[in-house]
Amino acid sequence: MFNVDKIRQDFPMLQGKTNEGKPLIYLDNGATTLKPNSVIEAVTNYYQNITSNINRGDYKLAYLVDQAYEKTREVVADFINCQSKEVVFTYGTTHSLNQIAYGYGLNNLKENDEILITVAEHASNTLPWYQLAAITKAKVKFIPLDKTGKITVENVRKMLNENVKIVSIAQVSNVLGCISDVKAIAREVHKFNAVLVVDGAQSVPHIKTDVKDLDCDFLVFSAHKMCGPTAVGVMYGKYHLLEKMMPLMLGGGMNLHFDTDFNVKLKAVPYKFEAGTSNIEAVLGLKAAIKYLKEIGMDNIANYEKQLKDYTISELKKLDNVIVYNPEADIGIISFNVLDKGKIIFGQDVASYLSKHGLCLRSGNHCAKNLWQYLAVDSTVRCALYFYNTKEEVDKLIEVLKTTTLENCVDVIL
Ligand code: ALA
Repeated sequence: MFNVDKIRQDFPMLQGKTNEGKPLIYLDNGATTLKPNSVIEAVTNYYQNITSNINRGDYKLAYLVDQAYEKTREVVADFINCQSKEVVFTYGTTHSLNQIAYGYGLNNLKENDEILITVAEHASNTLPWYQLAAITKAKVKFIPLDKTGKITVENVRKMLNENVKIVSIAQVSNVLGCISDVKAIAREVHKFNAVLVVDGAQSVPHIKTDVKDLDCDFLVFSAHKMCGPTAVGVMYGKYHLLEKMMPLMLGGGMNLHFDTDFNVKLKAVPYKFEAGTSNIEAVLGLKAAIKYLKEIGMDNIANYEKQLKDYTISELKKLDNVIVYNPEADIGIISFNVLDKGKIIFGQDVASYLSKHGLCLRSGNHCAKNLWQYLAVDSTVRCALYFYNTKEEVDKLIEVLKTTTLENCVDVIL
């Protein structure tokens, strides 16, 4: 039984007054999420009770941490429905996408090959491909969005041809909140023997994920957007693709042999991608985060968030001074601006005013700098919900937005 009041007790940040002396209303869950006690305890337990490195020590403590670390791989694999050996720990979505761009792209792309992305992609799913194209002389092309901001299968189909080698899209846009039909898109992409890379940073925390069903070739996501610690993420890849990929980083822990004749033998997948000492406590925290999300239930999370999102959009639409850019959002990411006498108030000024009332919302271009071509504005305020947010918090946002004027915003800045 989903009980938001009970859930909120699990989050220390939601207890007490923590933002400008007001109760914290945290609506910036697209940027990062709050952490429940179980995750905090998993991280501190590593520091207080079981500190040791992994894959190096022959003493009991190191063995125990090795086991706990590897257990996380199994937990992640079960969470997204793949094999454990297809789960690579990275430092986050950005690292994962760079690893794919360089590790797969450099070996598989040549002049005039094509990489398809969209203008809605985050910088992390744009810049590695620009760089790859610059090195290989391949071309980056943009799949058009439809008028609701979605990537349609039809538009993907129109862009595909024999030169396309990589299609890389977000399953959920961090500004528009719409879910892409990855399964249908994968089917089209595979007809041209291209690979489909899915940025799951904004989807894996919110909806059930099954990579076998989606049939994507790669899926990447970050722990910190799903109640886990920062600086750990996952790169899932089909095993046969990972096997052929070069690691982005080389060093300790990922090699079997090297010598002065420059012979180098790497470990097998996934270990060849995990050079250096990993963010061990964060990996253990990720395990606790997944356990926590599974106990609540991903379907419960998705259903609750959808109801809250529908409520938020309907309340925002009632305000004459607010323009919502993605009323068709599928999940709880809502982008809007506030108007004063018909003119948009600069998003960062609105965010500062909201902060005075305890509300935390991100504003700006949300690292999706190409999206202005679709939105016709280069800055929005974003309300990004998660399962611990409530209708009362949304009501508070609405109440404060009613009083948001240019004059009030300027007063905050001065
Ligand atoms: N990608 C994060 C966001 O959308 C940082 O806010």
